[in-house]
Amino acid sequence: MSADRRVLVLNGPNLGRLGRRQPEIYGATTHEELAALCREWGSAHGLEVEVRQTNHEGVLLDWLNTAADEETPVVLNAAAWTHYSLALYDACAQLVAPLVEVHISEPKQRPEQFRHTSYVEPYAATTISGQGIDGYRQALEFIAGAPAH
Ligand code: DQA
Repeated sequence: MSADRRVLVLNGPNLGRLGRRQPEIYGATTHEELAALCREWGSAHGLEVEVRQTNHEGVLLDWLNTAADEETPVVLNAAAWTHYSLALYDACAQLVAPLVEVHISEPKQRPEQFRHTSYVEPYAATTISGQGIDGYRQALEFIAGAPAH
């Protein structure tokens, strides 16, 4: 049997406070619980999932650059950086394996105009938003079904 395909789940700023951060918008699941669920969901599909979170944009860019070099599929919730980071846009442009954009809430339905723009979307194979943390499960399912490049 072949080894599990590696997938990175990368979460941007403020997502480390899931469970405590605006639970009426982002739900009660903590980041640690989300990470465990992603590993479970991935392994059910033969994926080896590594979940990371950072509040530092350069750290996320380094992870994306390495994912580009290693041709690793990425599930990305870039949080607020989604809406304004051109460096993130450039990093996403370099990815080789599928990129899936995830948002727990539905940014395009939220009142702040700035949330209606995404610099990840142009390079994402698909965007899953407004599904709560189940969006991560759907993203992993999408990657499991995507052809190995
Ligand atoms: C988010 C939506 C963004 O607008 C926001 O800045 C976040 C979280 C989401 O998962 O719904 O931090 O990406």
